[in-house]
Amino acid sequence: MNIRGKFITFEGGEGSGKTTVLGELSSYLESRSIPYILTREPGGIEISERIRDVILDTEHTAMDARTEALLYAAARRQHLVEKVKPALDAGKVVLCDRFVDSSLAYQGYARGLGMDEVWSINQFAIDSLMPDVTFYLDVDPEVGLARIAASKEREVNRLDLEKMEFHYKVREGYHIIAKQNPHRIITIDAKQTPTQVVNELIYEMEKGILKEFAGSLSNNID
Ligand code: TYD
Repeated sequence: MNIRGKFITFEGGEGSGKTTVLGELSSYLESRSIPYILTREPGGIEISERIRDVILDTEHTAMDARTEALLYAAARRQHLVEKVKPALDAGKVVLCDRFVDSSLAYQGYARGLGMDEVWSINQFAIDSLMPDVTFYLDVDPEVGLARIAASKEREVNRLDLEKMEFHYKVREGYHIIAKQNPHRIITIDAKQTPTQVVNELIYEMEKGILKEFAGSLSNNID
């Protein structure tokens, strides 16, 4: 059967554990023989990775907030056209680390550009392609940033260097977006251990988004 793929995005503040959890989810999909790709924003393909370098360079302190929002939208557009859409057309599950909600929470709300304004430039970029489901990993910024400080693997980027107040605003922004989109966004408590978060995500995915892949799920159980 030819099923169109599923577009699943993951959102959260700094240190919410998305990267760790996405690694585990990839292994899970592999073990179930579900075709998938794992990708991230900003980045995922060459042109967008280069835009990413410009946005996140810690030396680019002069970057204007609207420039930042436009660059994220540009990286998003190219990534969508070159990587996400072809994978969905091929019937794959797309796991994407961040998408348009990041722009609404970070640029729209925390930077103060306005969620409506940021939504409108993003509508131009995404041309109606929205995720089937979004998992928002919710954690107190104090906890998230402490995790980053404790991890040697994660490089510090320009947005990490924002004041604590900014990170609290990002969280507030996500709460507003989640409240406005209850049909699409599932909030997960990311203060739990990564294993607990992964188990909760798998549970949610199996009862919802992956139902159509039930054939491959049961095939793999025996
Ligand atoms: P990254 O190193 O990928 O951070 P994380 O592991 O937390 O996802 O850096 C991405 C940064 O870009 C992160 O600080 C969030 C920010 N961002 C925005 O501000 N707006 C956006 O639209 C996107 C996609 C990311």
